[in-house]
Amino acid sequence: KGDSGLSEINLLKRQVSTLEGQLRALQSSFSKYKQVIMFPNGRIVGEKIFMTSGYDGNFDSLKQRCSQAGGQLASPRNAAENAAIQQIIVLYNKSVFLGINDIQTEGHFKYLNGENIGYSNWHTGEPNNQSDAEDCVEVHSSGKWNDRSCGEKRLIVCEF
Ligand code: IPD
Ligand code: CA
Repeated sequence: KGDSGLSEINLLKRQVSTLEGQLRALQSSFSKYKQVIMFPNGRIVGEKIFMTSGYDGNFDSLKQRCSQAGGQLASPRNAAENAAIQQIIVLYNKSVFLGINDIQTEGHFKYLNGENIGYSNWHTGEPNNQSDAEDCVEVHSSGKWNDRSCGEKRLIVCEF
């Protein structure tokens, strides 16, 4: 009984060591595929992935496309996430719309889930709600934000 217990432990040890090797191989191939798939349109910040398809559209159209893809319109929660979005803007030389707006209550900018924003990077003098017609948020190549009419067309950046 003691002997069969020992050989069972040795068998398990061999199986664990095989699995460790397979896990290492999987990790290295996964990190390579991540690099490939992020080139050149994606950025990873922590657990979040920002990605553009190059499509331009108005706010509703961008929002719908990101949600259809299983993500949502980019909603930066900190400077690092904003910088990742900025890199995509610079790459395409096009401003983007964020998943942030004050459609419901003028001057109260919220995420798409209705939560008040906890991070912002407004350009000096913004948001100014020019002509009382600016409820969406565009980001320029400087990374700074401007409120802008939701009917304008901007580059899509989704987050996943
Ligand atoms: C406007 C200016 C303004 C900003 C508005 C824009 P436009 O551009 O950039 O500073 O607050 O949101 O619409 O309309 O004068 O070309
Ligand atoms: Ca504005």
